[in-house]
Order: sequence, then C-alpha cells, then structure tokens
Amino acid sequence: MNLKVRKAVFPAAGLGTRFLPATKAMPKEMLPLVDKPLIQYAVEESIHSGIQNIYIVTGRGKSAIEDHFDVSFELEHLLSSRKKTELLSIVQGVSDMINIAYVRQKEALGLGHAVLRAKELIGDEPFAVVLSDDVIDSEIPCLRQLLDVYEFYGASVVALMEVPPDQTSSYGIVDAEPVEHNGAKSSLYRVRNMVEKPKPGSAPSNLAIIGRYILTPEIFKSIEQIEPGAGGELQLTDALKHLLRNRPIYGLKFEGTRYDAGDKLGFLKATVEMALKRRDLGTAFHEYLKTLKL
Ligand code: G1P
Repeated sequence: MNLKVRKAVFPAAGLGTRFLPATKAMPKEMLPLVDKPLIQYAVEESIHSGIQNIYIVTGRGKSAIEDHFDVSFELEHLLSSRKKTELLSIVQGVSDMINIAYVRQKEALGLGHAVLRAKELIGDEPFAVVLSDDVIDSEIPCLRQLLDVYEFYGASVVALMEVPPDQTSSYGIVDAEPVEHNGAKSSLYRVRNMVEKPKPGSAPSNLAIIGRYILTPEIFKSIEQIEPGAGGELQLTDALKHLLRNRPIYGLKFEGTRYDAGDKLGFLKATVEMALKRRDLGTAFHEYLKTLKL
C-alpha cells in the first residue's frame, strides 16, 4: 500500500512583479477571479481532492493570505446579526475545512527552495505541490487525477499539458514516453528527462509541466543536492531530474482547462470564462459581452 497523500504545499512567496502596481501591497495570490482569490481556487481543489492539510510558503507582505484563511470575528458577527446566512457560510466555508500552517521563505530563491522550506512540516510522507497561478477548471480536480496515478504507481507524478513550440521556454519541459494505463495510452507518460525553461528551439518536446505535483519525500534530498539553475534559482524541475536517477517519475496529461493566471492575458481569460460559468452572473455577463462591438 502506498502512503496516503495528506498534505499540500502552496508556494506563495513570489513578488508578483507581473501584476504591479496591483501587487505592491497585496499578494498576487489574493488577486480575485470574479470574487474569489486565486489561492482559494487552489485550496478548494486540494480539499475536493481529499487533502486538508495546507502549508503555505509565504514571504514578506503576505499577511493578507493568513487573514483570508483566518476567522474574521467582526465580519462574521456583522453578517450573522444582519441574517446574511449565505454570505456567512461563504466566509466561514474554507477555513472550517482545512488545517493550515505557514512557513516563511525569507528570500525568493526559486520554487525548489520554497518547497524545501516545508521539509519539516511534511516529514517522511508523500505530498502535493500546488501553484495557485495555474488555475485549472475540470470535472475531476486536477490534483485528484494525479493522486489516482500516484496511488497506482507509488511514484512522483507531475501534471502535463501540450504547449505551442514558441512557449516551451516559459516552462519545465519533459522528455517522456507514453505508458499504457487503464487500457488507454494517450494521457500517461513515464518521464525520461526534463529541463527547466529550455532555450528556444532546444526543448525535448512540447509537453510542459503545469503547477500540480505529487512528490515522494526523497525530493527534499534532491533539492538539497542541486545547484541553482535557470534564472539563478533552485528549480524544482532540476530536483525532479536529479530524483529521476533513482526513482521513476510519471506525467499525466490531465483533463481540464488550465488558465495561466500569473499572466495578464491568461488572468483576463480566466476572469471572463469563470464569470460566464457563474449561475448568478453568467447570463447577464453573456448579454453584456454580446453588446460589445468586437
Ligand atoms: C514554474 C515551474 C515550471 C512550470 C511552471 C508551471 O515556473 O518552475 O517548471 O512549468 O511553474 O506554471 P514559473 O511559472 O514559476 O516560472
């Protein structure tokens, strides 16, 4: 039996420079898609995948994230005295469902470095890593899809997506061979090699790693052994490549739509599509969009 995955790490210490000035005094993870912060989408995906222990790796200026998942007595008192029960349950909802802890990344030295900060909290068990910039809308939560693969193979699993060749330099890219799984050969891969942000024209494929990972605890040793890579940062992709010397790693082309909410255009696309899907807003928003002479 493989150990159950009970914990998820949410790196959230980046400076969010792509969204300045909005992120000067507010963490980018708190930018809302319609009315919910990015990080809450990711936390809800984790809950719906069966993981309730949430470890957020924060940095300076990120206290709004802690407040967001904390109890807000004044607000709750106000909503309950005004009998706003629906809003009250929205406000209480997520915090009630998770055990949350924070660990500090003093300097933004890379994704590998951020994950390493959670080493003591994770201990010797498998865990998930969730990047809240990648918002994934799917029937079965993306993390749940990866967990199913982990539970079968007992090995680390990364989420994969095909990207256009001119975008490979923005991602971790894998070299991988398809594996037969559940009778289908198209979506599961065994990773042979990987490279973080390959130079244009040198990517081994167009299969990019998207911000969802199930990792076995040996990854911490690998992170400790690698040198800084792309951008002078300790890269999680490089640690996975190191781990690949001794352990198999799988990649799953997940089902669902992924939005790159860390990018302005991606953020706008996510906002429009999420709004169109909302029961309370969708119809009116759709009508409005039709009036735009595009
Ligand atoms: C990070 C990872 C990269 C991955 C990407 C997915 O990069 O380092 O391997 O492909 O997330 O969003 P970042 O977007 O932080 O530059």
